[in-house]
Amino acid sequence: MKISHCIILVVLTALPFGSVCEAQTVIKQACEQSFIIPKATGRYLWLPIQENAPEGKVQVILDGMFQMEQNVRMARESVDYYVPLDLQPYQKGGSLRVCVQNVPTGSICFSKIAQNDDVNYELITEKFRPEYHHTPMRGWMNDPNGMFYQDGTWHLFYQFNPYGSMWGNMHWGHSTSTDLVHWKHEGVALAPDVWGTMFSGSCVVDHQGTAGQGKGSVVAMFTSSRPTPFGGDVQAQGIAYSTDGGKTFKKYAGNPVLTAEDKDFRDPKAFWNPEIQKWNLVLAVGQEMRFYSSPNLKDWTYESSFGTGYGCHDGVWECPDLMKLQVRGTDKQKWMLICNINPGGPFGGSATQYFVGEFDGHRFTCEHQDTRWMDYGKDHYATVTFDNAPDGRHIALAWMSNWQYANQVPTMQFRSANSVARDLDLFEYEGQTYCGVTPSKEMTAARVKGNGKLTEACEAVIDLKSSATITLSNSKGEQVVMTYDAKKNEFSMDRTKSGVVDFSDAFPVVTTAPVYGKMKQLRLFIDKCSIEAIDAEGRMAMTNLVFPTEPYTSIKVQGGKATIYNIK
Ligand code: FRU
Repeated sequence: MKISHCIILVVLTALPFGSVCEAQTVIKQACEQSFIIPKATGRYLWLPIQENAPEGKVQVILDGMFQMEQNVRMARESVDYYVPLDLQPYQKGGSLRVCVQNVPTGSICFSKIAQNDDVNYELITEKFRPEYHHTPMRGWMNDPNGMFYQDGTWHLFYQFNPYGSMWGNMHWGHSTSTDLVHWKHEGVALAPDVWGTMFSGSCVVDHQGTAGQGKGSVVAMFTSSRPTPFGGDVQAQGIAYSTDGGKTFKKYAGNPVLTAEDKDFRDPKAFWNPEIQKWNLVLAVGQEMRFYSSPNLKDWTYESSFGTGYGCHDGVWECPDLMKLQVRGTDKQKWMLICNINPGGPFGGSATQYFVGEFDGHRFTCEHQDTRWMDYGKDHYATVTFDNAPDGRHIALAWMSNWQYANQVPTMQFRSANSVARDLDLFEYEGQTYCGVTPSKEMTAARVKGNGKLTEACEAVIDLKSSATITLSNSKGEQVVMTYDAKKNEFSMDRTKSGVVDFSDAFPVVTTAPVYGKMKQLRLFIDKCSIEAIDAEGRMAMTNLVFPTEPYTSIKVQGGKATIYNIK
């Protein structure tokens, strides 16, 4: 639906600006362009974006009082796509204005800005938008955050820039699902505040109401990150409560609840530890993980640190998770610490490593010296699990991208998707204990019989006898070649000729994984821009993005038999 453009007032002077607009005269001086927002014409102000434009500032001012400011690549010469500025929180009566700064007068955005109620306004149909993987409707997404399950609903929050498809302005976006396959967009859950933008974190269901908000309330714990005038950021941990099952959150007035001098001090993962009858917290701090405990999620006691001498240290440790898992086929349980790292991944950039060992609520001890990766693809990062999942399950989602090129991948109005849901456990192989990664049963439930032909969003199940080569290709000669070498116990995926690969030198690669045991069945989750290759018994996982200019229509299997399912 086309609507009328809504420029009402153009102020031509561009003078320095204080952080608070107290009087209309100040606003007039401050803004290169200022728009009075008439309530009647709609809830959203549509901001025209040009991705290669420098960031300008967009500010909301209500009755002369500064409300918020975002960095936005306002279009100068041409419009790539639109993002919505949701005016509803400010449409309470009073005079509402939006100021645009640091964007030259005469830029195209000033004639294209629009206001209406239509959530589908100028929504681009993108050929690489996945069909059965979660993506934000518009804007940038990175890490999954604060995932929890309650009363039949899976909640997924995520690092979100609502104002463009590149990293910045970090909010927590929110989506919900009842089957881990179909997701509903719920909007923004946490927005930046005086302590800074909202970096990654976790949610817990507080069954006993220890935080004072009642039994079953949900507590989110996040990092606020605020730039300092001297460069760098100050990172601190805050909490927010939800007493309506995760629909809305209220930030705790006593934030931050945990501070430190460390430069990288972030990504809190909290969980209830019945063994000490307290909450535990794992925080990523530079190249170590720090453990804390608390009776109420507000007062935290430092317990210990883990990291020196273990695993990969070729980058910064981020997004931890810690859980007790069953060792398959035994009555043993062990702890596993997830440690995402960037850079330093096995094929460059970001990846997920893990450590197996023991944790007594105070200290983590690791039982192996070697570095272990949860997924041997290039696009599997920031992996964390849902709190409060039923039946003792530990279900992980990853961000399917890599910091080496996440901002450049050839999508437009949205960037990035999550992996399919995967259940984690442990298995033994040659005297060592490894992480098992199995597609969640909800993925099997989503299968429907198609006509047996490869489609651009399907699952290909390959039954293997021994070594095999699987080739996906299209009529343009673009192809992905996967090889299972049963002698070497290795699986590899070659995406060097997979389609669009030239947006980053780091993209065209062959990734190789060890397989701990013989693979009898390989499951390939193929969607518009990704392939997840997972051993049906969970002893190998590899996640890679691919951008074919036309969908792959052919699958050739030498040494095995493929069955294709459509995904509902
Ligand atoms: C990981 C990460 C986190 C941080 C977030 C910021 O991808 O760098 O450590 O909280 O992204 O968006």
